[in-house]
Amino acid sequence: MCGIVGIVGSSDVVHVTELLLDGLQKLEYRGYDSAGIYVTNDQKQEHLIKVKGRVADLRNQVSDDVQGSIGIAHTRWATHGEPSINNAHPHVSENGRFYLVHNGVIENYQELKAKYLSNVNFKSDTDSEVAVQLVQYFVDKDNLTTLEALRKTVSLMPDSAYGFLLIDNEQPDKLYVAKRRSPLLIALGDNFNAVCSDALAMIAHTNKFVELHDGEVAVLTSNSVDIQDGNGNHIMRDPYTVDMDASEADKGAYEHYMLKEIDEQPIVIRRHLTDYFDENKEPALEQSLINEMAQADRIYIIAAGTSYHAGLVGKRIIEKLTNIPVEVNIASEFAYNYEIISEQPFFIFISQSGETADLREVLNRINKDGYSSLTITNVKNSTLSREATYTILLKAGPEIAVASTKAYTAQISIEAILAKALGMKLNNFTAQNFDLFGQLSVVANAMQALIDQKDKLRNIAEKYFVNATDAFYIGRGIDYAVSLEASLKLKEISYLHSEGIAAGELKHGPIALIEKGTPVVGILTQENVVALTRSNLAETQARGSKVLTIAMKKFAVTNDDIVIDDVDELLTPLLSVIPAQLISYYTSLAKGLDVDKPRNLAKSVTVQ
Ligand code: F6R
Repeated sequence: MCGIVGIVGSSDVVHVTELLLDGLQKLEYRGYDSAGIYVTNDQKQEHLIKVKGRVADLRNQVSDDVQGSIGIAHTRWATHGEPSINNAHPHVSENGRFYLVHNGVIENYQELKAKYLSNVNFKSDTDSEVAVQLVQYFVDKDNLTTLEALRKTVSLMPDSAYGFLLIDNEQPDKLYVAKRRSPLLIALGDNFNAVCSDALAMIAHTNKFVELHDGEVAVLTSNSVDIQDGNGNHIMRDPYTVDMDASEADKGAYEHYMLKEIDEQPIVIRRHLTDYFDENKEPALEQSLINEMAQADRIYIIAAGTSYHAGLVGKRIIEKLTNIPVEVNIASEFAYNYEIISEQPFFIFISQSGETADLREVLNRINKDGYSSLTITNVKNSTLSREATYTILLKAGPEIAVASTKAYTAQISIEAILAKALGMKLNNFTAQNFDLFGQLSVVANAMQALIDQKDKLRNIAEKYFVNATDAFYIGRGIDYAVSLEASLKLKEISYLHSEGIAAGELKHGPIALIEKGTPVVGILTQENVVALTRSNLAETQARGSKVLTIAMKKFAVTNDDIVIDDVDELLTPLLSVIPAQLISYYTSLAKGLDVDKPRNLAKSVTVQ
């Protein structure tokens, strides 16, 4: 959360302010309650501009004379202190010499404030300001250099998460950097070097990046990068190339990223068919991963939010095709209730961003305990990818809308490919007889057929959801797992209270919430429970609900609202979720809400 970007360049060739604002715009998915920029040069012409609001509001405040050769910028997702100009970054040391932006949380900021900074007049309520005041404190009191003071400062925050970018206005040719548990990458450009929370911020200007690891600091000039470890040893690290077309991160003709990303789902499935299957149409995954997983007596899936919901679907698919029991855990719960682990566990971390702090907490623990793991993520070289034993990439292309759509279906598709590979290795009969390649090809076409029903789904959204106060998705088995995701989509972007309920549970309590007109959507794709779920829908209808249905063709009846093409019952979530994604989108749109940047949320959740 929070997006940060810093640039040091030759001012005659590089337009630092423009690059910072462009970069910040690309990072806005990380937080968007306030934003700020600081730019200076060797003439000490300084500009500090902060706004409460979006990057676009900041851009409006930045006039043409805001120019410089070095700068830092920040878009905030508030943790400590409400969104306000004072709490917006960059923060300035009391003497006006040091400027800092921060992504993360300084856990012990109150203690540090009390111990070192009791005489300082703080301008904000943030934890971050403590860092910049401490740098000044150690430079003044202990006569340390700026780098030494930054090192000393971070050494006092051993349990905290930070990406810090610091400018000392007495050395306007140097950008100081420190990282721990918050994502930060160095970008190598022509006539400039930069640091950013995500490659997206700089991909329009360079595809060469250098990783920074936890505990490292770095000093950048326009033509040099000096990375040092915690002991001051210089680290030589080769750059890597990010193969992303800058246009992939653009909305193009779409009004919202979310709709673009919903539309991209068939393309992602087809990409999996090309990239993850061999010429015999069998899964082609790293053999050592499959060999190791085949030894497991239990698989633990760890994830959060939408990725957790994809994990719930994955459990069903993996168990069916491998007979290995699978447990799905919410990362933030598992992290502090490290339950009894089986003899031969294997851990799968599912994360679109690859940066989620709750998952990282678990991964650190299992790494310490020496267990193997796999990260399924959309972001190459992300923290969870680097720190797990194996990685499978989702290859969904950048997902920018805060509400996850194409990553969810990509996660399920990858879980199915993994399950099939593992089942084949284990000579599992069901896996051997499962034509996954053929089924995913059908899915890609069937997804398109659903996406083409936008007008119908818009009507449903406007007629039944826009004015509702509660809405429910219900289903059994794998349809229940999709109900949870469908309901999360609805609540997060349309602010409509919604629950995903196991259909059989309604009568044990939630049915009390049904009122006249309450929309209840039944998901009906599993032969053994379709009739039961239909009865549960009828029970709500008898109490006034407006029943809607998403049914698979072979179980459909004439008045079902949305019919999905017939596919293997294990893969129906790839289809049944799509009408729900579109209903959420159109409900949010009709309510005039910010579809891509819903209130209070941010993508890439790097705080616990
Ligand atoms: C909801 C959504 C979130 C994320 C969750 C985990 O649409 O996107 O619930 O799924 O924050 O994020 P990742 O997958 O990046 O670990």
